[in-house]
Amino acid sequence: MRELKILAVVTFFSLLIYILVEPFAHSQMHKHVEGHNFVYTGEADIAEASKDKKAVKEKFWSEVTKIASLKGDAKAGEAVFANCTACHNGANVNMGGVVPPALDHAGSIYDKNYLIALIKDPAMASNVDHKYADTSTHPMGSIKYTVNTDADIANVVAYMLKEKSGEVTPKEAYEQACARCHAMRYDKLTQIGTTPNFKHEKDALAHKIKVIEEQDAVKKYMGKLPPDLSMIIRARGEGFLETLVENPQSQLPGTSMPRVGLSKDGYEKVQAYLTAIGDPSKPERERLGPWVLGFFIIFSILAFLWKKEKWRGHH
Ligand code: HEC
Ligand code: HEC
Repeated sequence: MRELKILAVVTFFSLLIYILVEPFAHSQMHKHVEGHNFVYTGEADIAEASKDKKAVKEKFWSEVTKIASLKGDAKAGEAVFANCTACHNGANVNMGGVVPPALDHAGSIYDKNYLIALIKDPAMASNVDHKYADTSTHPMGSIKYTVNTDADIANVVAYMLKEKSGEVTPKEAYEQACARCHAMRYDKLTQIGTTPNFKHEKDALAHKIKVIEEQDAVKKYMGKLPPDLSMIIRARGEGFLETLVENPQSQLPGTSMPRVGLSKDGYEKVQAYLTAIGDPSKPERERLGPWVLGFFIIFSILAFLWKKEKWRGHH
């Protein structure tokens, strides 16, 4: 049967291209970066550190590991947490470049090791220490002087894991982890929160000016305005996004985007939000996919049978 042979040849080459050539082209266009499953031990930071920084980073992360092994006292941590609410107070005021994020769900979206590292030294934890001659000049850097004993750090982290956790929606996760830098205009989200519906144009314009002023401050802090992420889930693959969020330096060496320290759960929430806004028809597509395939298979069989019937006796 000639047709079957042609079909076999076409199928063979399609599969060959799909299996061999596509992944190769893909690997050439996108650097492959190994993820660490959203666990922060400093391994990657130490590996990629310059010679003179290696020892400093090794010491820093080994101290983090030591504090992580302490059994924190959540009750005692509540008092320490008052040091945090001086800045993380929901007042929506820019502090040194961005509005400090709400910490209502910090215990659910961030990794424990990361939180410890962040309080010890925010610039080191978020892997942007190369931007500072003295890391205490980071916008949250003064924390080094106020919460500086191992016990205080272990206690305040235990407090967040226990009391600042609970169920978090995908949108809340995004607001707390990304929205201070990245707007999401498809969901009317800016760096200063959700844009209300204004009755009067004057109020809308006044609000717009506030957004622009905030964006100017973020731009000054980051060197450029972080892009709106409304469409990012379609523009960038999941592997890129995951490894970028886990360690921005791994995908964009020298970038000013800090690591935010999300846990795997926290990242999944953020990704769910990016998908819900940027690619809302994805679940529908996935649901329809098997039906469409099934249709094509049945259709092909019918077409084949019909052809056989038509040509019977012609050979
Ligand atoms: C001096 C003000 C200030 C204090 C005090 C402060 N923070 Fe922050 N915090 C910030 C700012 C500003 C950011 C945003 C930094 C950025 O995006 O580069 C931030 C970011 C964070 C983040 C987001 C994670 C990340 O890597 O960006 C967490 C979690 C956090 N702070 C927890 C705490 C905790 C816990 C304390 C108290 C132990 C605390 N902060 C004290 C200003 C402060
Ligand atoms: C403190 C500010 C800040 C925070 C917080 C932040 N980012 Fe970024 N992000 C940036 C900056 C600045 C850039 C531009 C980086 C560059 O071009 O070097 C960027 C770039 C990106 C890009 C790359 C876009 C592209 O295609 O090149 C993605 C994706 C991204 N961020 C996702 C996130 C996500 C998701 C979060 C929250 C989990 C987040 N960012 C939190 C500052 C931030």
